[in-house]
Amino acid sequence: TEVSESKILGHLSTAAHASIDDTFPWAASEKIDHEAVVGTIKSLMADEFVKVDNLSTSFYSLTGEGETILAEGSQEYKVLKALEDAPLSLKDLEAKVGKNIAKIGMGNCMKKKWIKKDGGNLLALKKSSEVSDEVQDMLKKLKAADFAKDAISDKEFKDLKKRKMANLVTRKSFKVERGPKYAPQRVKKSADLTKEMLESGAWKTAEFKPYNFLTLGEKVGGGYLHPLLKVRAEFRKILMEMGFHEMPTNKWVESSFWNFDSLFQPQSHPARDAHDTFFIKEPGATVSVPEEYYERVKKMHEVGGAGSIGYRYDFKKEEAFKNLLRTHTTAVSSQMLYKLANQPGGFKPARYYSIDRVFRNETMDATHLCEFHQVEGLVADYDLSLGDLIGTIETFFKKIGITQLRFKPAFNPYTEPSMEIFGYHPDLKKWTEIGNSGMFRPEMLAPMGLPENVRVIAWGLSLERPTMIKYRIKNIRDLFGHKVEMARTRTAPICRFDAVE
Ligand code: PHE
Repeated sequence: TEVSESKILGHLSTAAHASIDDTFPWAASEKIDHEAVVGTIKSLMADEFVKVDNLSTSFYSLTGEGETILAEGSQEYKVLKALEDAPLSLKDLEAKVGKNIAKIGMGNCMKKKWIKKDGGNLLALKKSSEVSDEVQDMLKKLKAADFAKDAISDKEFKDLKKRKMANLVTRKSFKVERGPKYAPQRVKKSADLTKEMLESGAWKTAEFKPYNFLTLGEKVGGGYLHPLLKVRAEFRKILMEMGFHEMPTNKWVESSFWNFDSLFQPQSHPARDAHDTFFIKEPGATVSVPEEYYERVKKMHEVGGAGSIGYRYDFKKEEAFKNLLRTHTTAVSSQMLYKLANQPGGFKPARYYSIDRVFRNETMDATHLCEFHQVEGLVADYDLSLGDLIGTIETFFKKIGITQLRFKPAFNPYTEPSMEIFGYHPDLKKWTEIGNSGMFRPEMLAPMGLPENVRVIAWGLSLERPTMIKYRIKNIRDLFGHKVEMARTRTAPICRFDAVE
């Protein structure tokens, strides 16, 4: 099109050639593709560089059959030629000229009385030199007239068309003249004012494309919430509606003291093994824990108190001070309860929640990773009962659409009683374990200094589980980690858990 543009504008630039009378023959003489010329002309028209008249030219075009006859003569002429020396049987004629030509040519020869049937044979009545091949002649005449529309009469064309030798085709082309904004060269309009234009001064003469205020902007690529964060936002909203305040969980490294000891988890407990917990090498130990509280926790482990006989072993500071990646957010819950008990003005009832990351040295599979997220809630108040725990859990799960719950007795070192929570999942249509819960033990609460009749009910669940169910993700690696498809985050729909009233 670059070539055709400069040729068209160049042609129009000379006074002698102020127009192109018909683009079709012109394109042929310039040896450029007519389609390209048409495209360029449309673009030049838009800029008023040229104005045009539409031309429509009709002409004939020969079919394959027409071309053959033009070159070799008509079927009837071929048949007559085959018979003029000696009569032939139909079979012999077919063998000589071909079945198709014999059939068409024989019929036409009969009509023209060039041949007749003579017993079993076909007999020529004329010499080929005595007749003329009208069909071939007509085709020759067409060709000589460049297949122009007026080279033959309508009736003649009808006959050719009937015998599938020629078609009439119409060609669209243009007559082109200079337009009101004609110039021998078209300067490309710039879309942007660039640094280079300013530097070179080219901006003074540059032509700019007009603004298109209707165009849609380019898609913005960033700023999508990961599905886990969408579910977290939703859970936060639910827990805040229920009057819970968020705990500060922005610290992944904890001491064993807060992660285990404060929760009355014995120092010999298997969960404290390196097989289950990631310990920190550097710094390997915490600097300090509240001193008096530490002593009370140590005493509770060693000899008991608050009605308990303790574990009766030697509590080791070295073990308590070991740093680790927290294995549960309950490590933060215990710190919050300790603060609650020791805040100025003393204990006041409170509801806390957290949703954040925890780490476990687990064998990874389709549903387990070494890091995941826990949703945890607790209520600290006077004289709470197991009924309060069940009621709170029911309220929470109702808000995410799970109404049928079952509780199964379980064991946690820090809760008694403890209950695993099972829910009938309406999407999965089955009962599945959805959480863990319990009432914190007196052995945990008493050393903190909480009033004796303060009870703390608590529960925890993973964030991944409901997210996988919600977004129908089968493998946890598709949800979290380096194998996650980025597009999924971009296209994951808004998450909403519908409450069941
Ligand atoms: N910390 C428990 C877990 O990691 C969950 C839990 C929280 C259980 C609070 C009881 C009370 O599974």
